[in-house]
Amino acid sequence: MSVTNHVHDPRTRAKLLAALYLAQEQYGWLSPDAIQRVANRLELSPGQVYTTASFYSMFKLKPYGKYLVQVCEGLSCYLAGGAEPIIEHIARRLKIKPGETTPNGKFTLEVVQCLAACGTAPALRINDELYENMTLESIDELLARFGQV
Ligand code: FES
Repeated sequence: MSVTNHVHDPRTRAKLLAALYLAQEQYGWLSPDAIQRVANRLELSPGQVYTTASFYSMFKLKPYGKYLVQVCEGLSCYLAGGAEPIIEHIARRLKIKPGETTPNGKFTLEVVQCLAACGTAPALRINDELYENMTLESIDELLARFGQV
């Protein structure tokens, strides 16, 4: 398939973002195969598609666990006593480092910059659900609710 479109064209870019969103919905993440399919469909190169996908944090370029745990390390969360202690605590409980997935594929731990919950920091998100005013105790309860033993 030849590359005839350019990703900087606003209409092509809008189509590309929609296609990436749909591909992620369908496959769970944007595998090299999914990137290639989107590229073929929109007559773009896989490199153009990958570069765009990697720019947006909403797109997953590797498989994630069933539960994506995103811990905020933004300033408000840091000042509220969160960030490092919470990240270290969850990493210890799940026995993984940030960016990793548990061997059973259940949890992925990710560190993010802000979850737009600065007034109720420290905050974290599991999949689409936001959890605020977190403490190490409430994190243990939360992880247990999601099946971490
Ligand atoms: S800095 Fe943590 S939610 Fe904004």
